[in-house]
Amino acid sequence: MSNKEQNSDNKNPIENLEQAGMSRRGFLHGVGGASAFLGMTGLAGQAGAQEPPKDADGKVIPGFEKGQDDPNAAKDWQPVSDRKIRVGIAGYGLCAFGASFFYQNHPNVDVVAATDLDPERCAGLAKAVGAKKTYPSCEEMIKDKSIEAIYIATDAPSHARLAIMGLEHDKHVVSAVPAVFGFEAEDEAEKLFNAVKKSGMKYMMNETSTFHADCYAKRLQYQAGALGKIVYSEGEYYHDFGPKGLPGYNPKSGKVDLNGWRKALPPMWYPTHATAYYVSITGGRFTEVSALGTPGLYPEYKDGNNQHKNPFGTEIAMLKTSEDGISRMAGSWDMKNAHGEQGRVYGQKPHDKSIKGDRPPLPPGVDGGGHGGSHGHLTNNFIESILLDKTPIVHVGDALNMTLAGVVAHQSALKGGDWMKIPQYDL
Ligand SMILES: NC(=O)c1ccc[n+]([C@@H]2O[C@H](COP(=O)([O-])OP(=O)(O)OC[C@H]3O[C@@H](n4cnc5c(N)ncnc54)[C@H](O)[C@@H]3O)[C@@H](O)[C@H]2O)c1
Repeated sequence: MSNKEQNSDNKNPIENLEQAGMSRRGFLHGVGGASAFLGMTGLAGQAGAQEPPKDADGKVIPGFEKGQDDPNAAKDWQPVSDRKIRVGIAGYGLCAFGASFFYQNHPNVDVVAATDLDPERCAGLAKAVGAKKTYPSCEEMIKDKSIEAIYIATDAPSHARLAIMGLEHDKHVVSAVPAVFGFEAEDEAEKLFNAVKKSGMKYMMNETSTFHADCYAKRLQYQAGALGKIVYSEGEYYHDFGPKGLPGYNPKSGKVDLNGWRKALPPMWYPTHATAYYVSITGGRFTEVSALGTPGLYPEYKDGNNQHKNPFGTEIAMLKTSEDGISRMAGSWDMKNAHGEQGRVYGQKPHDKSIKGDRPPLPPGVDGGGHGGSHGHLTNNFIESILLDKTPIVHVGDALNMTLAGVVAHQSALKGGDWMKIPQYDL
């Protein structure tokens, strides 16, 4: 498929905006929040146009709707160091994630390199984050000894491999979700966990739900002992991809297109926006799961005759938790009137209003940003984990439990709901 065909077929947000006369800055301004690009130079066009990324039907991708910022972000931030971490960023696909997490604005970060396999996207990312160096691939960038930390915003199937490689090259690693993927997930989990332990470097998964205002507030309640044990929790990631599907990187074409990794994706292979609503609140674990799926509404799911051998467009999991609680986690790409990344927890004791639930302050120029004001918080947490040598908020143990719970749930759904044990990894 030619570039031209790809752009018109798949409505790639960045190219389409530029074709429509909107600036890349305007687009990213919308993605990253009001001050995301303060201080940036070299971006063409006028600021102000705000257009979030959209799916093939022109619907805004969940998490990129307007009004996602954290209103308290700018209050009372204190620097913890004057050191600047040298960061390399990989991936500038459908969601332009490489540029929407405020690395370019963080006072303790120097974005020294950018990469995407696609040369145009690579140049676009380098410009958006002000990186002087570019590399033709993340694999090449990882070999740069001057880089201390990498942010992996590439397609989901590549995360674990690139993260392991980064750790083995003594880089701190932050990865977009999920930590591990698909049929390889359990094998990848073992290798990723060992690489984190062996390297001693920081590893964090950028689970955006972790810094949703409600999820974070419940985390503080739980940590203060206010809720007691969580008796029941539930979480959802509902996003109707529509009959055309949602574009993603396709290694066969080298493009972001409708035959990429998102085509016929088992919902429970992408579970962490939901499962964070137990793991990020309690630090507890899902131990066993039984799940069911419903045949996908759209033709790509028919009889599981697709790249992921997946017949399901909706999957619902019941889980046992490490504190003898019950959880229900759901993912759907085809239900109508179902939308969003959300969840709830119910403890033995009531919510204590005297415990403040505010998210931490952020440095000037770093907003909460997209996905419920979470992007800037994730970045700041990762950077501070390096500066202060502390455990990142979504460390490898939490990341693997959130992800593997879904992977095993999908296996259970394929077996008609058998109870299955979830492999456990803890620091
Ligand atoms: N709420 C959230 O946390 C949230 C929301 C959207 C996307 N995501 C995640 O963010 C990531 C990026 O999403 P997207 O929609 O932009 O993905 P995408 O599939 O559209 O694009 C991935 C990009 O990575 C590049 N890439 C692949 N392998 C590479 C390599 N080895 N070196 C350099 N570049 C490489 C591709 O060329 C492509 O441009 C995905 O993993 C997705 O799961 C998370």
